[in-house]
Amino acid sequence: MQFNMSTASCLLTVLFLLLSVVGFCHGGVTSSYVRKAEGSSDLPKEAFPPPPGFNAPEQVHITQGDRGGRGVIISWVTPLMRHPNFVPYWAAEGKLKNYKLTAPAKITSYRYFNYTSGYIHHATIKRLEYDTKYFYEIGIGVCARLFHFRTPPKVGPDVPYTFGIMGDLGQTINSNETLEHYISNPTAQTMLFAGDLSYADDHPYHDNERWDTWGRFIEKSAAYQPWIWTAGNHELDFAPEIQEYVPFKPYMNRYHVPYRSSQSTSPLWYSIKRASAHIIVLSSYSAYGKYTPQYTWLKQELTKVNRAETPWLIVLLHSPWYNSNNYHFMEGESMRVAFESWFVESKVDIVLAGHVHAYERSERISNVRYNITDGLSTPIKDQSAPIYITIGDGGNIEGIANSFTDPQPSYSAFREASFGHATLAIKNRTHAHYTWHRNQDSNAVAADSLWLYNRHYYPVEELSH
Ligand SMILES: *[C@@H]1O[C@H](CO)[C@@H](O)[C@H](O)[C@H]1NC(C)=O
Ligand SMILES: *[C@@H]1O[C@H](CO)[C@@H](O)[C@H](O)[C@H]1NC(C)=O
Ligand SMILES: *[C@@H]1O[C@H](CO)[C@@H](O)[C@H](O)[C@H]1NC(C)=O
Ligand SMILES: *[C@@H]1O[C@H](CO)[C@@H](O)[C@H](O)[C@H]1NC(C)=O
Ligand SMILES: [Fe+2]
Repeated sequence: MQFNMSTASCLLTVLFLLLSVVGFCHGGVTSSYVRKAEGSSDLPKEAFPPPPGFNAPEQVHITQGDRGGRGVIISWVTPLMRHPNFVPYWAAEGKLKNYKLTAPAKITSYRYFNYTSGYIHHATIKRLEYDTKYFYEIGIGVCARLFHFRTPPKVGPDVPYTFGIMGDLGQTINSNETLEHYISNPTAQTMLFAGDLSYADDHPYHDNERWDTWGRFIEKSAAYQPWIWTAGNHELDFAPEIQEYVPFKPYMNRYHVPYRSSQSTSPLWYSIKRASAHIIVLSSYSAYGKYTPQYTWLKQELTKVNRAETPWLIVLLHSPWYNSNNYHFMEGESMRVAFESWFVESKVDIVLAGHVHAYERSERISNVRYNITDGLSTPIKDQSAPIYITIGDGGNIEGIANSFTDPQPSYSAFREASFGHATLAIKNRTHAHYTWHRNQDSNAVAADSLWLYNRHYYPVEELSH
Protein backbone atom coordinates (compact mmCIF):
# COMPACT_ATOMS: atom_id res chain seq x y z
CA MET A 1 0.00 0.00 0.00
CA GLN A 2 1.38 3.41 -1.04
CA PHE A 3 -0.51 5.40 1.57
CA ASN A 4 1.59 4.77 4.68
CA MET A 5 1.37 6.16 8.16
CA SER A 6 3.82 9.01 7.68
CA THR A 7 1.90 10.30 4.66
CA ALA A 8 -1.24 10.18 6.72
CA SER A 9 0.22 12.10 9.61
CA CYS A 10 1.69 14.58 7.16
CA LEU A 11 -1.72 15.17 5.63
CA LEU A 12 -3.21 15.55 9.07
CA THR A 13 -0.60 18.14 9.96
CA VAL A 14 -1.38 20.12 6.80
CA LEU A 15 -5.07 19.91 7.58
CA PHE A 16 -4.45 21.07 11.13
CA LEU A 17 -2.33 24.01 9.96
CA LEU A 18 -5.00 25.01 7.47
CA LEU A 19 -7.63 24.88 10.17
CA SER A 20 -5.60 27.00 12.54
CA VAL A 21 -4.97 29.59 9.80
CA VAL A 22 -8.69 29.69 9.09
CA GLY A 23 -9.28 30.10 12.80
CA PHE A 24 -6.93 33.08 12.89
CA CYS A 25 -8.58 34.95 10.07
CA HIS A 26 -12.13 34.67 11.22
CA GLY A 27 -12.10 35.57 14.87
CA GLY A 28 -10.17 36.50 17.95
CA VAL A 29 -7.64 34.25 19.56
CA THR A 30 -7.87 33.06 23.12
CA SER A 31 -4.54 31.49 23.87
CA SER A 32 -4.87 28.17 25.63
CA TYR A 33 -1.91 28.93 27.87
CA VAL A 34 -3.17 29.72 31.35
CA ARG A 35 -0.84 30.47 34.18
CA LYS A 36 -1.73 29.27 37.67
CA ALA A 37 -4.25 31.62 39.19
CA GLU A 38 -3.08 32.12 42.76
CA GLY A 39 -0.98 35.24 43.34
CA SER A 40 2.60 35.06 44.50
CA SER A 41 3.19 36.96 47.71
CA ASP A 42 5.43 40.00 47.69
CA LEU A 43 9.13 39.28 47.96
CA PRO A 44 10.44 39.93 51.48
CA LYS A 45 11.50 43.50 52.17
CA GLU A 46 15.08 42.24 52.58
CA ALA A 47 15.03 41.34 48.88
CA PHE A 48 15.15 45.08 48.20
CA PRO A 49 17.97 46.34 50.43
CA PRO A 50 18.93 50.01 50.49
CA PRO A 51 22.31 50.83 48.96
CA PRO A 52 25.22 50.69 51.44
CA GLY A 53 26.38 53.74 53.36
CA PHE A 54 24.94 56.26 55.79
CA ASN A 55 21.96 58.14 54.31
CA ALA A 56 22.79 56.75 50.85
CA PRO A 57 20.43 58.06 48.13
CA GLU A 58 18.00 55.38 46.98
CA GLN A 59 14.91 54.80 44.81
CA VAL A 60 16.39 56.79 41.95
CA HIS A 61 14.05 57.23 39.01
CA ILE A 62 13.62 59.60 36.09
CA THR A 63 10.77 60.80 33.92
CA GLN A 64 10.35 63.38 31.17
CA GLY A 65 10.56 66.88 32.64
CA ASP A 66 9.10 69.12 29.96
CA ARG A 67 6.78 69.13 26.97
CA GLY A 68 9.17 68.08 24.23
CA GLY A 69 11.88 65.81 25.66
CA ARG A 70 14.75 68.20 26.52
CA GLY A 71 13.80 68.04 30.19
CA VAL A 72 14.10 65.31 32.77
CA ILE A 73 12.92 65.02 36.37
CA ILE A 74 15.39 63.11 38.53
CA SER A 75 13.94 61.80 41.79
CA TRP A 76 15.50 60.04 44.76
CA VAL A 77 15.02 59.45 48.47
CA THR A 78 17.44 60.11 51.29
CA PRO A 79 16.33 58.22 54.38
CA LEU A 80 17.82 60.24 57.24
CA MET A 81 19.01 63.67 56.20
CA ARG A 82 17.87 66.30 53.72
CA HIS A 83 21.17 66.22 51.91
CA PRO A 84 22.30 65.73 49.23
CA ASN A 85 19.51 67.66 47.56
CA PHE A 86 21.25 68.56 44.31
CA VAL A 87 22.40 66.53 41.36
CA PRO A 88 25.49 67.13 39.20
CA TYR A 89 25.04 66.09 35.56
CA TRP A 90 27.10 66.24 32.40
CA ALA A 91 26.96 65.14 28.79
CA ALA A 92 28.95 62.02 27.95
CA GLU A 93 29.35 63.15 24.34
CA GLY A 94 28.85 66.12 22.04
CA LYS A 95 30.26 69.64 22.19
CA LEU A 96 29.53 70.06 25.89
CA LYS A 97 31.08 66.72 26.83
CA ASN A 98 32.00 66.51 30.53
CA TYR A 99 30.85 70.07 31.23
CA LYS A 100 29.37 69.73 34.71
CA LEU A 101 26.24 71.51 35.85
CA THR A 102 24.25 71.05 39.03
CA ALA A 103 20.49 71.02 39.45
CA PRO A 104 18.82 71.67 42.81
CA ALA A 105 15.98 69.48 44.01
CA LYS A 106 12.71 70.27 45.72
CA ILE A 107 12.18 68.18 48.83
CA THR A 108 8.90 66.70 49.90
CA SER A 109 7.99 64.21 52.59
CA TYR A 110 4.74 62.90 54.01
CA ARG A 111 3.20 60.91 56.81
CA TYR A 112 0.83 58.02 56.23
CA PHE A 113 -0.84 56.44 59.28
CA ASN A 114 2.22 55.65 61.44
CA TYR A 115 4.74 55.79 58.58
CA THR A 116 7.01 58.76 57.91
CA SER A 117 8.68 58.96 54.52
CA GLY A 118 12.30 59.83 53.94
CA TYR A 119 13.23 63.02 52.14
CA ILE A 120 11.90 62.75 48.61
CA HIS A 121 13.89 64.83 46.12
CA HIS A 122 12.77 65.96 42.69
CA ALA A 123 15.21 67.84 40.47
CA THR A 124 13.93 69.15 37.15
CA ILE A 125 16.56 69.73 34.47
CA LYS A 126 15.60 71.55 31.27
CA ARG A 127 17.21 72.46 27.95
CA LEU A 128 19.36 69.38 27.59
CA GLU A 129 20.73 68.50 24.16
CA TYR A 130 18.57 66.12 22.15
CA ASP A 131 19.69 62.55 21.51
CA THR A 132 22.61 62.75 23.91
CA LYS A 133 23.85 60.50 26.67
CA TYR A 134 24.10 62.17 30.08
CA PHE A 135 25.62 61.06 33.33
CA TYR A 136 24.28 62.14 36.70
CA GLU A 137 25.52 61.48 40.18
CA ILE A 138 23.62 61.48 43.44
CA GLY A 139 25.35 61.52 46.81
CA ILE A 140 28.80 62.49 47.88
CA GLY A 141 31.94 60.60 48.79
CA VAL A 142 31.57 56.89 49.41
CA CYS A 143 27.79 57.11 48.94
CA ALA A 144 27.98 58.70 45.48
CA ARG A 145 25.97 56.79 42.91
CA LEU A 146 26.48 57.28 39.19
CA PHE A 147 23.66 56.82 36.63
CA HIS A 148 23.05 57.73 33.01
CA PHE A 149 20.26 58.25 30.48
CA ARG A 150 19.83 59.29 26.87
CA THR A 151 17.62 62.18 25.85
CA PRO A 152 15.23 61.49 22.96
CA PRO A 153 15.81 62.86 19.47
CA LYS A 154 14.12 66.16 18.61
CA VAL A 155 10.40 65.77 18.07
CA GLY A 156 9.66 65.05 14.42
CA PRO A 157 7.37 63.02 12.18
CA ASP A 158 9.71 60.24 11.12
CA VAL A 159 11.85 59.87 14.22
CA PRO A 160 12.14 56.18 15.08
CA TYR A 161 11.66 55.49 18.76
CA THR A 162 10.84 52.42 20.84
CA PHE A 163 8.64 52.46 23.91
CA GLY A 164 8.29 49.72 26.51
CA ILE A 165 4.84 49.06 27.94
CA MET A 166 3.98 47.58 31.32
CA GLY A 167 1.27 47.76 33.94
CA ASP A 168 0.26 46.51 37.38
CA LEU A 169 3.79 45.54 38.30
CA GLY A 170 3.91 45.05 42.08
CA GLN A 171 6.87 43.36 43.76
CA THR A 172 6.54 39.59 43.59
CA ILE A 173 8.76 36.99 42.01
CA ASN A 174 6.60 37.38 38.89
CA SER A 175 7.10 41.16 38.95
CA ASN A 176 10.83 40.54 39.08
CA GLU A 177 10.61 38.24 36.08
CA THR A 178 8.69 40.86 34.13
CA LEU A 179 11.15 43.62 35.00
CA GLU A 180 14.22 41.46 34.30
CA HIS A 181 12.72 40.34 31.01
CA TYR A 182 12.07 43.95 30.07
CA ILE A 183 15.58 45.08 31.00
CA SER A 184 17.16 42.25 29.02
CA ASN A 185 15.17 43.39 25.98
CA PRO A 186 17.63 46.02 24.75
CA THR A 187 15.38 47.93 22.36
CA ALA A 188 12.98 49.95 24.52
CA GLN A 189 14.06 53.49 25.33
CA THR A 190 11.22 54.79 27.51
CA MET A 191 8.62 53.00 29.62
CA LEU A 192 4.93 53.77 29.21
CA PHE A 193 3.56 52.57 32.54
CA ALA A 194 -0.20 51.99 32.65
CA GLY A 195 -0.67 52.37 36.42
CA ASP A 196 -0.70 50.29 39.64
CA LEU A 197 2.83 50.54 40.88
CA SER A 198 3.77 49.10 44.27
CA TYR A 199 0.59 47.45 45.65
CA ALA A 200 1.60 48.78 49.08
CA ASP A 201 -2.11 49.12 49.78
CA ASP A 202 -2.52 45.34 49.78
CA HIS A 203 -0.54 45.27 53.04
CA PRO A 204 -1.94 46.09 56.50
CA TYR A 205 -2.26 49.87 57.01
CA HIS A 206 -1.06 50.30 53.39
CA ASP A 207 2.44 49.64 54.72
CA ASN A 208 4.22 52.48 52.96
CA GLU A 209 7.60 50.80 53.37
CA ARG A 210 6.34 48.84 50.38
CA TRP A 211 6.47 52.06 48.38
CA ASP A 212 10.15 52.29 49.36
CA THR A 213 10.93 48.69 48.47
CA TRP A 214 9.21 49.19 45.11
CA GLY A 215 11.28 52.30 44.44
CA ARG A 216 14.43 50.26 45.05
CA PHE A 217 13.10 47.42 42.93
CA ILE A 218 12.50 49.42 39.75
CA GLU A 219 15.63 51.56 40.06
CA LYS A 220 17.67 49.29 37.80
CA SER A 221 15.45 50.39 34.92
CA ALA A 222 13.82 53.63 36.04
CA ALA A 223 17.10 55.38 36.91
CA TYR A 224 18.35 54.84 33.35
CA GLN A 225 15.33 55.49 31.18
CA PRO A 226 12.22 57.59 31.81
CA TRP A 227 9.10 55.87 33.07
CA ILE A 228 5.99 57.76 32.02
CA TRP A 229 3.55 57.45 34.90
CA THR A 230 -0.19 56.80 34.97
CA ALA A 231 -2.16 56.60 38.22
CA GLY A 232 -4.13 53.41 38.88
CA ASN A 233 -6.51 52.44 41.66
CA HIS A 234 -3.60 51.15 43.77
CA GLU A 235 -2.24 54.70 43.81
CA LEU A 236 -5.37 56.01 45.57
CA ASP A 237 -4.35 54.99 49.12
CA PHE A 238 -7.66 56.43 50.28
CA ALA A 239 -8.27 54.79 53.66
CA PRO A 240 -10.73 56.61 55.91
CA GLU A 241 -10.65 53.66 58.33
CA ILE A 242 -7.12 54.76 59.28
CA GLN A 243 -7.84 58.48 58.86
CA GLU A 244 -6.12 58.73 55.50
CA TYR A 245 -8.40 60.99 53.51
CA VAL A 246 -6.15 62.43 50.79
CA PRO A 247 -6.32 60.34 47.60
CA PHE A 248 -3.02 59.64 45.79
CA LYS A 249 -0.90 60.99 48.67
CA PRO A 250 2.08 58.58 48.48
CA TYR A 251 1.99 58.46 44.68
CA MET A 252 1.91 62.22 44.20
CA ASN A 253 4.72 62.77 46.69
CA ARG A 254 6.94 60.15 45.07
CA TYR A 255 6.24 60.33 41.35
CA HIS A 256 6.32 63.80 39.87
CA VAL A 257 5.33 64.44 36.25
CA PRO A 258 5.61 67.57 34.05
CA TYR A 259 1.88 68.30 34.07
CA ARG A 260 2.16 72.10 34.03
CA SER A 261 3.94 72.08 30.67
CA SER A 262 0.75 70.74 29.07
CA GLN A 263 -1.42 73.33 30.91
CA SER A 264 -2.84 70.64 33.14
CA THR A 265 -3.85 71.55 36.66
CA SER A 266 -3.21 68.06 38.06
CA PRO A 267 -0.36 65.52 37.90
CA LEU A 268 -3.02 62.87 37.31
CA TRP A 269 -3.61 63.94 33.69
CA TYR A 270 -1.05 65.51 31.37
CA SER A 271 0.69 65.04 28.07
CA ILE A 272 4.18 64.94 26.60
CA LYS A 273 5.70 64.83 23.17
CA ARG A 274 8.56 62.43 22.67
CA ALA A 275 10.27 61.67 19.35
CA SER A 276 7.35 61.05 16.94
CA ALA A 277 4.69 60.44 19.60
CA HIS A 278 2.18 62.62 21.40
CA ILE A 279 1.33 60.84 24.63
CA ILE A 280 -1.75 61.69 26.68
CA VAL A 281 -2.10 60.33 30.22
CA LEU A 282 -5.55 60.23 31.82
CA SER A 283 -6.84 59.35 35.28
CA SER A 284 -9.56 56.72 35.55
CA TYR A 285 -9.98 57.67 39.22
CA SER A 286 -10.54 61.41 38.92
CA ALA A 287 -13.67 63.15 37.76
CA TYR A 288 -14.06 63.19 33.97
CA GLY A 289 -17.70 64.13 33.48
CA LYS A 290 -18.65 67.20 31.48
CA TYR A 291 -17.26 70.49 32.93
CA THR A 292 -14.74 68.74 35.19
CA PRO A 293 -11.09 69.85 35.02
CA GLN A 294 -9.97 66.62 33.34
CA TYR A 295 -12.76 66.83 30.73
CA THR A 296 -12.00 70.46 29.95
CA TRP A 297 -8.29 69.79 29.74
CA LEU A 298 -8.63 66.76 27.42
CA LYS A 299 -10.96 68.63 25.07
CA GLN A 300 -8.37 71.41 24.72
CA GLU A 301 -5.47 69.00 24.56
CA LEU A 302 -6.85 67.09 21.58
CA THR A 303 -7.00 70.32 19.59
CA LYS A 304 -3.27 70.80 20.19
CA VAL A 305 -2.15 67.50 18.72
CA ASN A 306 -0.16 68.23 15.57
CA ARG A 307 0.18 65.09 13.49
CA ALA A 308 2.64 66.83 11.15
CA GLU A 309 5.00 66.98 14.13
CA THR A 310 3.96 63.89 16.12
CA PRO A 311 2.12 61.42 13.86
CA TRP A 312 1.55 58.92 16.66
CA LEU A 313 -1.17 59.64 19.19
CA ILE A 314 -1.01 57.34 22.21
CA VAL A 315 -3.26 57.41 25.28
CA LEU A 316 -2.44 55.87 28.65
CA LEU A 317 -5.12 55.22 31.24
CA HIS A 318 -5.62 52.55 33.86
CA SER A 319 -9.08 51.04 33.60
CA PRO A 320 -9.63 49.51 30.12
CA TRP A 321 -12.59 50.52 27.95
CA TYR A 322 -12.69 47.23 26.07
CA ASN A 323 -12.05 44.22 28.26
CA SER A 324 -13.52 40.76 27.82
CA ASN A 325 -12.24 39.42 31.11
CA ASN A 326 -14.69 38.77 33.94
CA TYR A 327 -12.31 40.65 36.22
CA HIS A 328 -13.15 44.37 36.22
CA PHE A 329 -15.68 43.84 33.44
CA MET A 330 -17.14 47.19 32.30
CA GLU A 331 -15.37 49.24 34.96
CA GLY A 332 -14.03 51.53 32.24
CA GLU A 333 -17.45 51.94 30.66
CA SER A 334 -18.42 55.37 31.97
CA MET A 335 -15.12 56.88 30.83
CA ARG A 336 -15.53 55.21 27.43
CA VAL A 337 -18.94 56.81 27.10
CA ALA A 338 -17.49 60.19 28.03
CA PHE A 339 -14.50 60.21 25.67
CA GLU A 340 -14.67 57.52 23.01
CA SER A 341 -16.11 59.76 20.29
CA TRP A 342 -13.26 62.22 20.81
CA PHE A 343 -10.70 59.44 20.39
CA VAL A 344 -12.34 58.32 17.14
CA GLU A 345 -12.57 61.88 15.80
CA SER A 346 -8.94 62.51 16.78
CA LYS A 347 -7.83 59.20 15.31
CA VAL A 348 -5.96 58.01 18.38
CA ASP A 349 -3.61 55.21 17.30
CA ILE A 350 -3.46 53.15 20.46
CA VAL A 351 -4.90 53.19 23.99
CA LEU A 352 -2.88 51.42 26.68
CA ALA A 353 -4.57 50.32 29.88
CA GLY A 354 -3.78 48.03 32.80
CA HIS A 355 -5.97 46.99 35.74
CA VAL A 356 -6.95 43.53 34.44
CA HIS A 357 -4.14 41.11 35.28
CA ALA A 358 -3.92 39.50 31.88
CA TYR A 359 -3.16 40.52 28.32
CA GLU A 360 -5.67 41.53 25.66
CA ARG A 361 -5.57 43.36 22.32
CA SER A 362 -8.70 44.63 20.58
CA GLU A 363 -9.63 45.07 16.96
CA ARG A 364 -10.09 48.63 15.72
CA ILE A 365 -13.66 49.08 16.87
CA SER A 366 -15.91 51.80 18.18
CA ASN A 367 -19.22 51.96 19.94
CA VAL A 368 -20.17 55.59 19.54
CA ARG A 369 -23.42 55.32 17.58
CA TYR A 370 -25.47 54.18 20.56
CA ASN A 371 -28.14 56.31 22.13
CA ILE A 372 -30.83 55.23 24.49
CA THR A 373 -33.49 54.82 21.79
CA ASP A 374 -31.56 53.38 18.82
CA GLY A 375 -30.33 50.14 20.41
CA LEU A 376 -27.07 50.26 18.40
CA SER A 377 -24.93 49.06 21.28
CA THR A 378 -22.65 46.57 19.53
CA PRO A 379 -19.08 47.73 18.80
CA ILE A 380 -18.38 47.82 15.08
CA LYS A 381 -15.17 47.79 13.05
CA ASP A 382 -13.96 51.35 12.67
CA GLN A 383 -10.68 52.26 10.99
CA SER A 384 -10.69 55.64 12.76
CA ALA A 385 -10.74 53.95 16.15
CA PRO A 386 -7.75 53.11 18.35
CA ILE A 387 -6.49 49.62 19.11
CA TYR A 388 -7.03 48.98 22.82
CA ILE A 389 -4.33 47.09 24.67
CA THR A 390 -4.83 45.82 28.21
CA ILE A 391 -1.47 45.09 29.73
CA GLY A 392 -2.10 44.69 33.45
CA ASP A 393 0.07 41.59 33.35
CA GLY A 394 3.08 42.84 35.31
CA GLY A 395 2.77 40.04 37.88
CA ASN A 396 1.64 41.64 41.14
CA ILE A 397 0.54 40.10 44.45
CA GLU A 398 -3.08 39.66 43.31
CA GLY A 399 -2.30 36.98 40.71
CA ILE A 400 -3.55 36.40 37.20
CA ALA A 401 -7.03 37.24 35.84
CA ASN A 402 -7.70 33.90 34.17
CA SER A 403 -11.43 34.11 33.59
CA PHE A 404 -12.26 35.39 30.13
CA THR A 405 -15.85 35.68 28.95
CA ASP A 406 -16.92 32.91 26.64
CA PRO A 407 -17.36 33.13 23.70
CA GLN A 408 -14.67 35.68 22.91
CA PRO A 409 -16.45 38.85 21.72
CA SER A 410 -15.69 39.96 18.17
CA TYR A 411 -13.97 43.15 19.38
CA SER A 412 -11.28 41.07 21.09
CA ALA A 413 -8.43 40.10 18.75
CA PHE A 414 -6.07 38.30 21.11
CA ARG A 415 -6.12 37.52 24.82
CA GLU A 416 -4.05 35.43 27.17
CA ALA A 417 -3.70 35.00 30.92
CA SER A 418 0.09 35.32 31.16
CA PHE A 419 2.49 37.85 32.64
CA GLY A 420 4.69 39.95 30.38
CA HIS A 421 5.52 43.31 28.83
CA ALA A 422 5.24 44.87 25.36
CA THR A 423 7.21 47.16 23.11
CA LEU A 424 6.05 49.64 20.50
CA ALA A 425 8.76 50.32 17.92
CA ILE A 426 7.81 53.38 15.87
CA LYS A 427 9.65 53.28 12.53
CA ASN A 428 8.33 56.36 10.74
CA ARG A 429 5.08 58.26 10.30
CA THR A 430 3.22 55.27 8.87
CA HIS A 431 4.59 52.13 10.51
CA ALA A 432 5.14 50.88 14.05
CA HIS A 433 5.87 47.35 15.14
CA TYR A 434 4.14 46.20 18.31
CA THR A 435 5.13 43.02 20.21
CA TRP A 436 4.01 41.41 23.45
CA HIS A 437 6.54 39.27 25.33
CA ARG A 438 5.37 36.86 27.96
CA ASN A 439 7.71 35.98 30.80
CA GLN A 440 7.90 32.28 30.09
CA ASP A 441 9.39 32.88 26.62
CA SER A 442 12.86 34.05 25.67
CA ASN A 443 13.21 37.64 24.57
CA ALA A 444 13.25 36.95 20.87
CA VAL A 445 9.76 35.44 21.05
CA ALA A 446 6.71 37.65 20.60
CA ALA A 447 3.53 35.89 21.69
CA ASP A 448 1.48 38.61 20.02
CA SER A 449 2.74 41.00 17.36
CA LEU A 450 1.32 43.41 14.86
CA TRP A 451 2.42 46.03 12.35
CA LEU A 452 0.47 49.11 13.39
CA TYR A 453 -0.45 51.58 10.69
CA ASN A 454 -0.78 55.20 11.63
CA ARG A 455 -4.38 56.42 11.71
CA HIS A 456 -3.56 59.84 10.31
CA TYR A 457 -1.09 58.95 7.56
CA TYR A 458 -1.98 55.39 6.65
CA PRO A 459 -5.39 54.36 8.02
CA VAL A 460 -5.30 50.89 6.49
CA GLU A 461 -6.60 47.85 8.32
CA GLU A 462 -3.88 45.87 10.08
CA LEU A 463 -3.49 42.13 9.80
CA SER A 464 -2.76 40.05 12.88
CA HIS A 465 0.52 38.08 12.63
C1 LIG B 1 15.26 39.07 40.19
O1 LIG B 1 15.71 38.25 39.15
C2 LIG B 1 17.09 38.34 38.90
C3 LIG B 1 17.40 37.55 37.66
O2 LIG B 1 16.87 36.28 37.73
C4 LIG B 1 17.86 37.85 40.12
O3 LIG B 1 19.25 37.99 39.90
C5 LIG B 1 17.44 38.71 41.30
O4 LIG B 1 18.05 38.22 42.47
C6 LIG B 1 15.94 38.70 41.48
N1 LIG B 1 15.59 39.67 42.49
C7 LIG B 1 14.90 39.34 43.55
C8 LIG B 1 14.62 40.46 44.49
O5 LIG B 1 14.50 38.22 43.75
C1 LIG C 1 2.33 50.78 62.54
O1 LIG C 1 1.25 50.19 63.19
C2 LIG C 1 1.12 48.79 62.98
C3 LIG C 1 -0.15 48.33 63.65
O2 LIG C 1 -0.22 48.76 64.98
C4 LIG C 1 2.35 48.08 63.49
O3 LIG C 1 2.26 46.70 63.21
C5 LIG C 1 3.59 48.64 62.83
O4 LIG C 1 4.75 48.07 63.36
C6 LIG C 1 3.64 50.14 63.01
N1 LIG C 1 4.73 50.70 62.24
C7 LIG C 1 5.49 51.69 62.68
C8 LIG C 1 6.54 52.17 61.75
O5 LIG C 1 5.36 52.16 63.80
C1 LIG D 1 -31.06 58.28 18.61
O1 LIG D 1 -30.97 57.51 17.45
C2 LIG D 1 -32.13 57.57 16.62
C3 LIG D 1 -31.93 56.58 15.48
O2 LIG D 1 -30.72 56.82 14.81
C4 LIG D 1 -32.30 59.00 16.13
O3 LIG D 1 -33.47 59.09 15.31
C5 LIG D 1 -32.44 59.91 17.32
O4 LIG D 1 -32.48 61.25 16.89
C6 LIG D 1 -31.27 59.74 18.25
N1 LIG D 1 -31.51 60.50 19.47
C7 LIG D 1 -30.64 61.38 19.95
C8 LIG D 1 -31.05 62.07 21.21
O5 LIG D 1 -29.58 61.62 19.40
C1 LIG E 1 8.24 53.14 7.03
O1 LIG E 1 8.66 51.97 7.71
C2 LIG E 1 8.22 50.77 7.13
C3 LIG E 1 8.63 49.64 8.05
O2 LIG E 1 9.99 49.70 8.33
C4 LIG E 1 8.78 50.64 5.72
O3 LIG E 1 8.32 49.46 5.13
C5 LIG E 1 8.34 51.84 4.91
O4 LIG E 1 8.93 51.79 3.63
C6 LIG E 1 8.75 53.12 5.62
N1 LIG E 1 8.23 54.25 4.90
C7 LIG E 1 9.01 55.19 4.39
C8 LIG E 1 8.35 56.30 3.66
O5 LIG E 1 10.23 55.16 4.52
FE1 LIG F 1 -5.79 48.35 38.90
